[in-house]
Amino acid sequence: MNLHSKVAVVTGGGSGLGRAASQALADGGATVVIIDMNAEAGAKAVEELGANKAHFIQLDVSSGTDVEAAFDKIIADLGRVDICVNCAGIGIAAKTVNREGEPHNLDHYRKIIEVNLIGTFNIARCAAAAMARNEADEKSEKGIIINTASIAAFDGQMGQVAYSATKGGIVGMTLPMARDLASLGIRVNTIAPGVMATPLMLSAPQPVQDGIVSNIPFPKRLGEPSEFGQLVVQMVENSYLNGETVRLDGGVRMQPR
Ligand SMILES: NC(=O)c1ccc[n+]([C@@H]2O[C@H](COP(=O)([O-])OP(=O)(O)OC[C@H]3O[C@@H](n4cnc5c(N)ncnc54)[C@H](O)[C@@H]3O)[C@@H](O)[C@H]2O)c1
Repeated sequence: MNLHSKVAVVTGGGSGLGRAASQALADGGATVVIIDMNAEAGAKAVEELGANKAHFIQLDVSSGTDVEAAFDKIIADLGRVDICVNCAGIGIAAKTVNREGEPHNLDHYRKIIEVNLIGTFNIARCAAAAMARNEADEKSEKGIIINTASIAAFDGQMGQVAYSATKGGIVGMTLPMARDLASLGIRVNTIAPGVMATPLMLSAPQPVQDGIVSNIPFPKRLGEPSEFGQLVVQMVENSYLNGETVRLDGGVRMQPR
């Protein structure tokens, strides 16, 4: 699928990887609808991308009714949805049993499942329903959904038990969702980033960043958000890539801690 004149919905588009994906898609000619809880970040992204190329909707991706209403609005305003990139996500650090011997807080576990896993599915189901209404293009395609997992889906570290469960869930639903949507001409892929140079990571003390980088085989640096954006564009444009999770991580395999 090419990007020209397409409508792309990007969750978490106000910051980090979602912001970079929005940039890459807009640069390629797509109109981008940024969905984010952070109104200030969303407004800033629209200003930077240009009001003729970008729109913003503030919502929590885990709300079923809000997401359904948002897709109704996008169809009413822009007529279609072709591309959906799920980047909204949160992280927590807590072990199954903490140093004081207390069990992991179950509300915290539920919250991250709600945002990362249910939020991703919630957006994907509504995006797919919207894409199904498109005319197929010359390659018989109606749309593509790209989810964001993490290498923590495969080699989660101590304290990542909840986060890894959400990302493992995203990896697990990639193939069955691609199979569900195959007859509609909609592809589904997932990116599993390694350690990327987003604001959160860049705010970590330099020794922490250096420690992480020392474990990365090559290139010996954090991943650039623009490299995530580049892979998003490739996944859109390469019609034969479907049902797959691609690690984007410089070859790193995380250690237990
Ligand atoms: N940065 C990394 O190194 C890295 C590595 C692996 C995976 N990831 C994943 O990539 C995604 C983006 O990470 P990032 O580093 O760009 O994070 P970020 O915090 O910079 O951006 C996340 C955005 O999602 C939004 N958001 C959070 N909860 C939301 C909700 N319930 N509804 C709507 N919007 C919500 C935030 O407001 C924010 O703008 C996340 O899913 C994260 O787990 C990041």
